[in-house]
Amino acid sequence: MTGQPARSLGTLYGVGLGPGDPDLMTIKAHRVVTTAPVIAYFRKRGKTGHARTIVSEMLGSKVVIEIALEYPVTTEVAFDDAEYIEPIRNFYAQSATRLSTHLDNGEDIALLCEGDPFFYGSFLHMYDRLRQTYPVIVVPGITGMSGCWTAAASPITYGDDVLTVLPGTLSHDALLKSLRATDAAVIMKVGRNLDKIKKALTAAGRFDEAIYVERGTMQGERVMPLANLESSPAPYFSIILLPGGRGRRIT
Ligand SMILES: C[S@@+](CC[C@H](N)C(=O)[O-])C[C@H]1O[C@@H](n2cnc3c(N)ncnc32)[C@H](O)[C@@H]1O
Repeated sequence: MTGQPARSLGTLYGVGLGPGDPDLMTIKAHRVVTTAPVIAYFRKRGKTGHARTIVSEMLGSKVVIEIALEYPVTTEVAFDDAEYIEPIRNFYAQSATRLSTHLDNGEDIALLCEGDPFFYGSFLHMYDRLRQTYPVIVVPGITGMSGCWTAAASPITYGDDVLTVLPGTLSHDALLKSLRATDAAVIMKVGRNLDKIKKALTAAGRFDEAIYVERGTMQGERVMPLANLESSPAPYFSIILLPGGRGRRIT
């Protein structure tokens, strides 16, 4: 027998960083981020990247290989638009290839994820493409919504309350149907969907209960009744909370 022993593959870590405040990261996430030889993260073109910003202080000037995966399109294009789907599919395929080059070299990668990696994250596109070939370890994180209802000092579910999590990208009718059927709700991905969400909340008779949270637990955090929010669209990091309470068993 000749030749070199096969090099072992690197591990892809999907690291949940929590809702924004670096103090809300887990000890495990901190350990992986500060020891991995390669750090990867998604970001908009021309921006530092939110996930990268969360870890900037803990990384300091530590030299690691950094892989910035830059989205080819912005949210200016609707998600169901063919103009969006094709470039973004290619982008995820190319991103997975970039990561696999390092994993093939035996280098571990910490892929930084805002909130929890398994909850509406771009990480899922890497997970689906790479988990059959490489070892993958997911480090859970505090979700953005959890940070937001805490920032709003607003308990979200009591007793038998049903909580529904809704992407604001759903149609008005789909939002309305779910809002009518739930006690509590969290509406994510508000952005350009703000006006549609407001109409659905009004039609469901829940508009006055809704709380708006922008940049929860981060610098520039804003919390207010949704009724007080005048500007539209909302920024990327914004969420709408509909606290429960109707399911209380003990009053
Ligand atoms: C693609 S999802 C990613 C969710 C993330 N993986 C998590 O666990 O929260 C992005 C959406 O989450 C919501 N979000 C996440 N963190 C937030 C925060 N700190 N403040 C406000 N909204 C947040 C916003 O609605 C945003 O559009």
